[in-house]
Amino acid sequence: MKQTISQQKISSPSAIHKSFWLHDQPLDARYPVLEENHHTDVLIVGAGIAGLSVALELLERGRQVTVCEASVIGAGTTGGSSGHLDAHPEIGPQALLNQMGEEKARAYTLMRLEAIRAIQSRCDKNCEFRSVEGYFYTEHEEALNDVKAEYEAAKKIGLSVNWTDQVPVPRAVGGYAIQGMARINCMSYLKSLAELVVQKGGQIFEQTQVSGPVEPAPSSLKTAADHEIYFNQVVCAVHCNFTDFQQLYLETPAYQSYVLAAKVRVPLEDALFWDDSDPYFYIRRATDEEDLILVGGCDHRTGAGDTTASLNHLEEWTRERFQVVSIVSRWSAEFFEPTDGLPFIGKVRGKENVWIATGFSGTGLTLGTAAGSMLADLIIGKSNSLTEELSPGRLNITSVGKVISEGTTTAVNLAERVLPAQKINVDVLQPGEGAVGKVDGKFAAVCRDRNGCVHSHSPICTHMGGVVQWNEVEQTWDCPVHGGRFSASGERLYGPPEKKLETE
Ligand SMILES: Cc1cc2nc3c(=O)[nH]c(=O)nc-3n(C[C@H](O)[C@H](O)[C@H](O)COP(=O)(O)OP(=O)(O)OC[C@H]3O[C@@H](n4cnc5c(N)ncnc54)[C@H](O)[C@@H]3O)c2cc1C
Ligand code: FES
Repeated sequence: MKQTISQQKISSPSAIHKSFWLHDQPLDARYPVLEENHHTDVLIVGAGIAGLSVALELLERGRQVTVCEASVIGAGTTGGSSGHLDAHPEIGPQALLNQMGEEKARAYTLMRLEAIRAIQSRCDKNCEFRSVEGYFYTEHEEALNDVKAEYEAAKKIGLSVNWTDQVPVPRAVGGYAIQGMARINCMSYLKSLAELVVQKGGQIFEQTQVSGPVEPAPSSLKTAADHEIYFNQVVCAVHCNFTDFQQLYLETPAYQSYVLAAKVRVPLEDALFWDDSDPYFYIRRATDEEDLILVGGCDHRTGAGDTTASLNHLEEWTRERFQVVSIVSRWSAEFFEPTDGLPFIGKVRGKENVWIATGFSGTGLTLGTAAGSMLADLIIGKSNSLTEELSPGRLNITSVGKVISEGTTTAVNLAERVLPAQKINVDVLQPGEGAVGKVDGKFAAVCRDRNGCVHSHSPICTHMGGVVQWNEVEQTWDCPVHGGRFSASGERLYGPPEKKLETE
């Protein structure tokens, strides 16, 4: 088999995020590009934490796997995450109990605790795995009763928790400590996971974009370079929906979330912290340095928020609570929020051999790892106690209202394209600015990149016709409909689109 490896470094403008982890580990192509037709048993599309975890688990069950990654390892959201490993439900312990009942909620928590242990067992020393406590807390006296109710529910779902009035973070008035959580360097972890996959006989191809499956029982998929990959089973691990099962798009709307790394004057306790605001803020040490912290939050629907204002708000929030010496790094990345609070892991409805793991919200490091074990079991025919609850084909009755409201946001964006557009005066666009409007009577997405070069494209997303919006923080064109992301020069970067933006 002909394999070529491109040693070209993917430059930061075409990377999907500019996270802190990239400071000392730039995105490198380490694995070959697929340059001919290929046969495998299980094809895994996407080499983030979910794809690589499924690959490893399948290899451990004696299956042959090939992983194809459109960009390079670490380019996706895993490399732009903040490296918290936790088993506290994003929707809160009480909501999880209401949603699943006590027995299933305990099984779900256990699945995430086991994922933390699995990650630990796969870490080499570069991964900086550190076992730490997590704290869920409030800054508001009037919210203490609500947080105490969450504390009681946390015990019922199987977390080991202690109430404290002394949460070691500025402004906290009370909360609970959760045992058995951890932090890692997520970029190093991905690299170590990829090495394990190859050591166990898996094949990884980078810069090899694959088209999504549409047939009920596909036996092959095409790469962007027009090579055919033949398989028995295919796992979609591209973070978002990647199939023609449209309901899944509505159930996993795309959000953008922000993180900054800051040097602070007073050291932070080595623990994970989440507050009770919505969306919540979270804090942790970035590394073993006690005065280097990560702070995250300010989430909003992709393409529907002011990116610069959100990042500024995160910085203000941080400065109000910590004596900041310097901001070391600022970035954002995308996540996909399940409308009923649970991830989608399992067989795609209407397909015979297509599997998916998506809807991880902000906890995909544990959920992506757990998806690895669950999908590998399901593929070899072993049942799992959460198969139905996490099935991609479920439409939980409690999620219907939310699905409709998220769908309305989507429809509004599609309709916008028929509205008359503002005129764009390209001459007044400053470096780093972009806008959608009319140029010489034609609808266009125009930006001036930070080097001063002007780019003009059709503003219509090549996936399903959303109208892209300029993301000033990331210098990308983002599609609010399903979270597709394109570079300033129109290249496809992330999400469901398979083709770049058309040039005008
Ligand atoms: C700012 C931020 C911070 C976060 N912090 C945390 C945290 O601290 N802890 C936590 O548990 N979770 C966190 N999350 C969530 C977590 O990072 C994600 O849920 C998780 O990383 C998703 O992993 P993944 O493997 O599904 O996706 P990704 O890591 O995005 O991997 C998917 C891969 O698929 C590739 N791909 C896409 N399309 C194709 C195609 N057509 N062909 C081939 N390859 C393709 C992409 O290039 C990408 O590399 C955070 C999320 C955000 C946005
Ligand atoms: S229309 Fe689906 S990502 Fe743009």
